[in-house]
Amino acid sequence: MDIINSNYKLLMENDDETESLGLSDSRNGITIIAAAAANDALGKDNKLIWHISDDLKRFKQLTSGHAIIMGRKTFESMPNALPNRRNMVITRNKDYFAKGAEIFYSIEDALSVVKNDSQPFIIGGGEIYRQSMALADRIELTRIHKEFDADTFFPNIPKTKWKLIKEKKLLTTKSDSVSYSYLTYIKKT
Ligand SMILES: NC(=O)c1ccc[n+]([C@@H]2O[C@H](COP(=O)([O-])OP(=O)(O)OC[C@H]3O[C@@H](n4cnc5c(N)ncnc54)[C@H](OP(=O)(O)O)[C@@H]3O)[C@@H](O)[C@H]2O)c1
Repeated sequence: MDIINSNYKLLMENDDETESLGLSDSRNGITIIAAAAANDALGKDNKLIWHISDDLKRFKQLTSGHAIIMGRKTFESMPNALPNRRNMVITRNKDYFAKGAEIFYSIEDALSVVKNDSQPFIIGGGEIYRQSMALADRIELTRIHKEFDADTFFPNIPKTKWKLIKEKKLLTTKSDSVSYSYLTYIKKT
């Protein structure tokens, strides 16, 4: 199975994992979730560029039951809307229709209707992350410790505005092992 298919198979699985990753705390709020390479690479040709199954499982576990807000290009990079989540797509195209998703014409509009969600997630891509840095309270970043060729990048996380509160380093078990870390940042008050 190629990277794209195995990534989306994991994201689409409609299972019922309930094990807690112990990642939540009282300061969740609007959360950016992303996986970025050492050079901030996010994707290329509207696709993800690596396959780290544990990271995709973590993504699914964290976001399940919550709103996921994404740019139109990210939505179109997936075969379908993601199950067990409120899929919200941002576009400027007033005629846009996306099966299984709600359409909004700004990130602020999408956020205004998820006030009862304790942790709405902003799931990309690059354009939407850039515009969301000022709106988010928290970043769940998977940092892959390798550079990748890409056309979409994660924005800089300024130390003056964001505090790193958790860091966990891991290694993929596959033969092409690559190390990565789960980093949690909260916005400084
Ligand atoms: N590594 C990761 O964690 C991760 C996560 C998600 C995505 N990705 C990758 O990121 C890439 C896609 O990112 P991208 O930056 O190209 O696109 P994107 O952020 O997913 O979507 C951009 C689109 O969102 C809409 N948009 C953006 N700002 C808007 C605003 N202020 N108001 C209304 N609509 C707005 C526009 O849609 P219209 O053109 O329809 O108006 C725009 O073309 C892909 O390669 C994907 O695989 C990586």
